[in-house]
Amino acid sequence: MPNTFYITTPIYYVNDVPHIGHAYTTLACDVLARYKRSRGFEVFFLTGTDEHGQKVEKAALANGETPIELADRVMPRFQALWEKLNIENTDFIRTTQQRHAKGVQKLFLHLKEQGDIFLGTYEDWYCTPCETFWTETNLIDGCCPDCGRPTEKLQEESYFFRMSKYQQQLLEHIEANPDFIQPRSRRNEVLSFVREGLRDLSISRTSFSWGIKVPDDDKHVLYVWFDALSNYITALGYPDDAKGNFAKFWPADVHVIGKDILRFHTVYWPTFLLAAGLPLPKKVFAHGWWTVEGKKMSKSMQNVVEPNMLVEKYGIDPIRYFLLREVPFGLDGDFSHSSLVNRINSDLANDLGNLLSRCTAMVNKYFDGILPAAQSCNEEDEALVELCRERMETVDKHMDALAFNKALTSIWEIISAANRYIDTNAPWTLAKDESQHERLGTVMYNLIETIRLVGLSIEPFMPDTGDKIKETLGLSATEGLENLSAWGQIEPGSTIKKAPPMFPRIDPKLTQC
Ligand code: ME8
Repeated sequence: MPNTFYITTPIYYVNDVPHIGHAYTTLACDVLARYKRSRGFEVFFLTGTDEHGQKVEKAALANGETPIELADRVMPRFQALWEKLNIENTDFIRTTQQRHAKGVQKLFLHLKEQGDIFLGTYEDWYCTPCETFWTETNLIDGCCPDCGRPTEKLQEESYFFRMSKYQQQLLEHIEANPDFIQPRSRRNEVLSFVREGLRDLSISRTSFSWGIKVPDDDKHVLYVWFDALSNYITALGYPDDAKGNFAKFWPADVHVIGKDILRFHTVYWPTFLLAAGLPLPKKVFAHGWWTVEGKKMSKSMQNVVEPNMLVEKYGIDPIRYFLLREVPFGLDGDFSHSSLVNRINSDLANDLGNLLSRCTAMVNKYFDGILPAAQSCNEEDEALVELCRERMETVDKHMDALAFNKALTSIWEIISAANRYIDTNAPWTLAKDESQHERLGTVMYNLIETIRLVGLSIEPFMPDTGDKIKETLGLSATEGLENLSAWGQIEPGSTIKKAPPMFPRIDPKLTQC
C-alpha cells in the first residue's frame, strides 16, 4: 500500500472574494501535494469554503441576498481561481453541503452524549468580524485585541464544550510533540496561552440562524468554528466512512493555515478531537502575513491584490514561483510589483530561461539535437555532479520541512552552477576545434542532465515549466522525482528540442497594477 499524505488549506469565508493571501496558502499546499505525489505518496489535498456564520449572514443582508445566494455566487470564484493557478486539489468542501452538516451534528451529539457539552448562559464581549468572544480583560480600549474593531456585549443561552477538561491533555501533547505546531515561535505562543488556562467554549448561538442546527434544539445554530474545523474530517466521510477515506487519511499530515487562525487550529480543534477520541493532526503549520507595498491589505485601503489580474499580467508559474521564493514560509512578507518583476527578470528570465535556451540551442547546433554521451570526466564535471547530488538531497529535506524558499534557493544554486559551467567550458570555443568534439559532447551531456534534475525538482512549484522542460528533453510526462538525486538517467541519443521562450523579460517600468 502506498504511503498516504493528507494536506488541508483553511476553508475560506465567502463574504470576501479571493485575494493574494488566500492564493498563497492554497499554492503552498498544492506545491507540497505535488511534491509528495511525485515521491509516490497517495495524496488527499482538501480545500473549500466556509459558508456559515454571522459574518456571512450580515454580508448577504447588506448585499440584498440570502446567505446561500451569496455563497453560491462567491464559491465559484474560489474554484475558478484554483483552476487558473493550476491547483490540483482532491476535493472541495462547502460547509453548506449535506455531507458536512451530517458529520458536524454527529460530532456534536457524540460529545454531548458523553457529557462534554452542556447547556448554559453566555455573556461576554463579541467581535463579529472575527466571530470571537472576548473577556473584558482581553479587550483593548473596549475593542477586539485581534482586529481593533468595536465589540458588543452579548448574553445568550448557549451550549458549551468542556474545553477546560482537556487542557492538561493538550498541554502534554504539545510538549511531547515538538513538531505538532510550527514554526517554533507559534508553538511557544500556543503553549503560554494553554498554560494560562482554558475556559469552556460556547459552541452555539441563538442570535442568528445562518448555520448548522444543533440536533434536537433548533433554535440554536452551531458556532461557526465548531462547524468549520470539522470540515477536515467530514470531507473524509466522518463518521460513516470508517473503512474508506477517513480510515485511510486521518490524521492529517499537515493543516496549513495563516497565523491569524492559529488558536482555533491548535487549541479548539485538538480539544474537540481529544474529546471525540480521535487522533490529532500530525502538524499545524502557520505561515506569515502578506502586506502590500508595505501596508496592510484591506478593502478600505483599496490595495487588495487580485490574483487573477496578476496571473493575466505575469503568468501562472512566475506568480507561483514568486510567492514561495520571496518569503521564508512562516514569516511575514511584503508583496511589491517591483520585487515580483525583479525576480521574474533575474531568476526566471536570466538564470533559468537562459540556461534552458542556451543549452538546448547548442545541442541542436552542434549535435543536430541528438544528445551525445559523456566521456571521461574531469574535476570540474565531478564538482557539478556532486553539487547536483548534494543540493537535490537538500531540496528533499527542505520540502519536508515546508521550507519552500530554501528548497528553491538550493535549486537555483544548481542553476547558477550550470550557468558558470557553461561560461568556464565555453562550448562555442570547443566547437571550433575538431579535436575537442568528445569534450564538447561531455559538457553538453552534463548540462542537459543538470537541466533534467532542475526540471523535475521545480515541477511542484512551476508545473507548466516542468512539463515544458520534460517535453524539450523528450521525457515522459509522468516522470517523477523518485530518482531525484540519481545522476545520469537521461539516455545519450535522446532527442533534445530547442526550448521554447518561457520567461519574457518584463519592463520594470510596467510595475504598476
Ligand atoms: O479564517 N497573508 O477564512 P478566511 C497571508 N473561514 N495569508 C492570508 C492573508 C494575508 N494577508 N489573508 C488571508 C477563515 N490569508 C476561516 C477559516 S478553517 C477551518 C476556517 C489566508 O477567508 C490565510 O491562510 O478569513 C488565513 O488563515 C486564511 O486566508 C483566512 O481565510
